[in-house]
Amino acid sequence: MPTNLETTRLILRRFTNDDLEPFLAYRSDPEVSRYQGWSEPYTRDMAEEFIRDLVIRQPGEPGEWFQWAIELRASGEMIGDCAFYLLERDPRQAEIGVTLSRAHQGSGYAREAIERLMEYLFGELGLHRVCANCDPENKPAWQILERMGFRREAHFIENLWFKGYYASEYWYAMLRREWESI
Ligand SMILES: CC(C)(COP(=O)(O)OP(=O)(O)OC[C@H]1O[C@@H](n2cnc3c(N)ncnc32)[C@H](O)[C@@H]1OP(=O)(O)O)[C@@H](O)C(=O)NCCC(=O)NCCS
Repeated sequence: MPTNLETTRLILRRFTNDDLEPFLAYRSDPEVSRYQGWSEPYTRDMAEEFIRDLVIRQPGEPGEWFQWAIELRASGEMIGDCAFYLLERDPRQAEIGVTLSRAHQGSGYAREAIERLMEYLFGELGLHRVCANCDPENKPAWQILERMGFRREAHFIENLWFKGYYASEYWYAMLRREWESI
């Protein structure tokens, strides 16, 4: 399994203990966490445990999220993470996610990271299907997916009890043959 995935501007690499401060900073930012599943407040203990678990995890263990740290090639700064897990019921299918610190949004980095992740999942792991979900209010998230050619397959209305209210969800997916024909 490769450890690093590289793009023009980014290196997707394993988390290290040095990522604690930037990781904690963006996970604690209410603008970043608003539509994300982690509980708040996001504490230093939680961040330490997250990194400790990840350091020993291998990508591609069905049912377990694997997160790459996203690093800027130019500065070495850690600016976010992108992740996938293989479905337990069918490990030829994956779900993906991405998070960037607020200061690094709006520069195309999330899309660049996700494009490399898709190459890894379809090209290197040979998966059949990749899916993602997001809140319909989270426009930056569904815009990336639509710009990349993901198909919106579902719009669930207030189906998820989430941070004290019923949230809705868009679900997107892409098949390997669709990715190959882009
Ligand atoms: C979802 C999230 C990752 C999107 O980040 P993002 O930076 O908006 O996404 P992209 O990398 O696709 O960047 C696109 C923007 O960068 C701009 N951009 C600037 N330079 C660019 C470049 N070289 N290449 C591509 N786009 C560029 C685009 O024009 C676009 O701006 P627009 O949305 O105003 O049209 C980010 O909002 C985030 O981390 N949110 C919090 C976590 C979250 O909710 N994650 C999703 C959970 S499902």
